[in-house]
Amino acid sequence: MITLKDSEFRELTGYMKANYGINLKEKRILIEGRLSNLITEKGFTNFSDYLKFVFEDSSGDEISTLINKLTTNHTFFMREADHFEYFKDTVLPYLESNCKTKDLRIWSAGCSSGEEPYTLALIIADYFGTQKAMWNTKILATDISLRVLEAAEKGVYSGEAVNTISRYWALKYFNKIDNDNYQICDQIRGEIIYRNFNLMAEIFPFKKKFHVIFCRNVMIYFEPKTKMELINKFYDMTETGGYLFIGHSESVNKDETRYKYVMPAVYRKG
Ligand SMILES: C[S@@+](CC[C@H](N)C(=O)[O-])C[C@H]1O[C@@H](n2cnc3c(N)ncnc32)[C@H](O)[C@@H]1O
Repeated sequence: MITLKDSEFRELTGYMKANYGINLKEKRILIEGRLSNLITEKGFTNFSDYLKFVFEDSSGDEISTLINKLTTNHTFFMREADHFEYFKDTVLPYLESNCKTKDLRIWSAGCSSGEEPYTLALIIADYFGTQKAMWNTKILATDISLRVLEAAEKGVYSGEAVNTISRYWALKYFNKIDNDNYQICDQIRGEIIYRNFNLMAEIFPFKKKFHVIFCRNVMIYFEPKTKMELINKFYDMTETGGYLFIGHSESVNKDETRYKYVMPAVYRKG
């Protein structure tokens, strides 16, 4: 394994924090483990030469590979299930009654390989049923890792992953494509718009505000200041009456946010 010198560690962690909000200060071993093979494959023997090569690459491909390696993308269908229950039982009925234009604007920020936005799309499809055609319910799903975005767009999941969801969903919305893989059907895939978007971007280039923002298990590695700045931006991008869902391990100081606390990890713009 190629080890990091202190100066290389500082350079890399500083870069990831400044540009993507991700604090890897406690993750020295993880960085070495995830990058060593890649560095060797690229023909380098140390981090300094590799990093120089990455930062000088104007195509953006090498940065993209680095991000793919250093982000943590663990996710699964129906993760933190009480959020989805609340979304189905409270948020959707509220939006159905109050969104007169019938265009729901939902954002899965830090969507990883798609399980979160697809779970939302499945709930929406069931909720609206035959009325669905009268609604625009497209979900925006964004991430900084192109690798996971590609996987999300394909919507192919292992039998093991599909076994964790209800049999009803598995039969209705997934097609078996080979011995162990299933693809989510086109109808549901077409409900998600995937985009590469860095949540650290100064400007959020969205024309309209969102009714619901899911940003769960993304800010775990963010510094408190970075997290609060992001939550403030989310607030500005939320419709009045709209909701923010964060991960259960990502508390927000109630005194620091303009959102109103609803239940653990759920906030609302009053
Ligand atoms: C652990 S996954 C969470 C997936 C899903 N939201 C969930 O709760 O299961 C975190 C995702 O956030 C993405 N991420 C981290 N920093 C980001 C940033 N600055 N901008 C956009 N996405 C980011 C990572 O690439 C990763 O796919």
